[in-house]
Amino acid sequence: MRIADFDLYKDMLMKQSGLTLSADKCYLLDSRLTPVAKKWDFASLDTMSVALRGMPDPALVKDIVEAMTTNETSFFRDGKPFELFKEVVLPYIAKSRSTQRSLRIWCAASSSGQEPYSLAITALENQHLIPGWKIEIVATDISDDILEIARKAEYSQFEVQRGLPIQLLTKYFEQNNENWKLKEEVRNMVKFQNFNLLNDMATLGLFDIILCRNVLIYFNEETKKEILIKMAKRIPSDGFLFLGGAETVLGISEDFTPMSDCRGLYVLREGNYDMEALEKSAAG
Ligand SMILES: C[S@@+](CC[C@H](N)C(=O)[O-])C[C@H]1O[C@@H](n2cnc3c(N)ncnc32)[C@H](O)[C@@H]1O
Repeated sequence: MRIADFDLYKDMLMKQSGLTLSADKCYLLDSRLTPVAKKWDFASLDTMSVALRGMPDPALVKDIVEAMTTNETSFFRDGKPFELFKEVVLPYIAKSRSTQRSLRIWCAASSSGQEPYSLAITALENQHLIPGWKIEIVATDISDDILEIARKAEYSQFEVQRGLPIQLLTKYFEQNNENWKLKEEVRNMVKFQNFNLLNDMATLGLFDIILCRNVLIYFNEETKKEILIKMAKRIPSDGFLFLGGAETVLGISEDFTPMSDCRGLYVLREGNYDMEALEKSAAG
């Protein structure tokens, strides 16, 4: 691919989704955009690039952005965050929200649904902490294609084998030929919607917990900063944020601080927490 074309896609991706593309990822453009060019009946990537320099069809731009997203995910990915959700955050919120009896969670880059469904299953497995509570899990992603897969909630044997304990598989899924379909009880707990993290988040309301895992890694420092500033405004003064294992707020956000001994879990620096209770849950 010519340098000028590489820059065209690089700028487009940055503007539309915040994704950064370094020069060594040129091969990714070729492999992921060739099917898009075929779908849109362009003779080659070069002809698609020419078309994009005019007034590009927004649907084509959307296809390009979706093709360039990385949707890697799995049930209970990395384990630890879900342990912290169950052992630290849920018991704490069970007390702090005991009068409202409601819990609102935002899974901010939900991919094909394994992450929000893992949260829903964890909440169901720990109902004794939050009996009869209203639980709302809002799961968003920039890609309509991946959201469609997430809403379907049907996974292959390979996908369920990655991270899902067998007893949870048999309890919450039904076999559908070679695949496993998540039961309605769990599916109904999660509401999926398209949302671009570059957009104004105020429309989404407030959340007790935000998970923004394994997506900030694709953004530059400035974009990460802007997203974390906006997220800090979406949680109340005693809310929680989870980031991915390779992500941090250090040097990026003034609003959040890591919870000691709880890798991946962050609280508001100027927040209003019962730290004694929180540290007690964290210590087990
Ligand atoms: C690697 S997956 C992470 C999935 C899940 N959070 C996890 O940790 O397993 C990253 C997801 O972020 C989404 N994404 C990328 N850029 C985005 C943006 N600007 N706004 C919202 N979602 C975005 C992609 O479509 C993709 O599904």
